[in-house]
Amino acid sequence: MSENGWHAICHDSDLNEGAMLPFELGEFQIAVYRVGSEVFATDNVCTHGMALLTDGFLDDDVVECPLHGGMFNVKTGKALCEPVECDVKVYETRLIDDMIEVLLR
Ligand code: FES
Repeated sequence: MSENGWHAICHDSDLNEGAMLPFELGEFQIAVYRVGSEVFATDNVCTHGMALLTDGFLDDDVVECPLHGGMFNVKTGKALCEPVECDVKVYETRLIDDMIEVLLR
């Protein structure tokens, strides 16, 4: 479902505290994370190579790529350590009627 670029991707209850989930929406590969009571979303493909961040590890608001250990802040997308040099794209999220939605443009 799409409304002005907002896409419903899962129920709020599908995403546990400290968990992350992968979603494919057309050309987009999205990772969704729950940090505390908040939900964040980024591109799921690492900016350093062909690895999915959701195959890595989430520690608070930092996701570690499974391939070479690059890290990103999931709130800002900022690349935090080598070998990653480029930030990962972040997407706005919102909760509507128990559904997590992501804004894709
Ligand atoms: S592919 Fe992610 S750090 Fe290399």
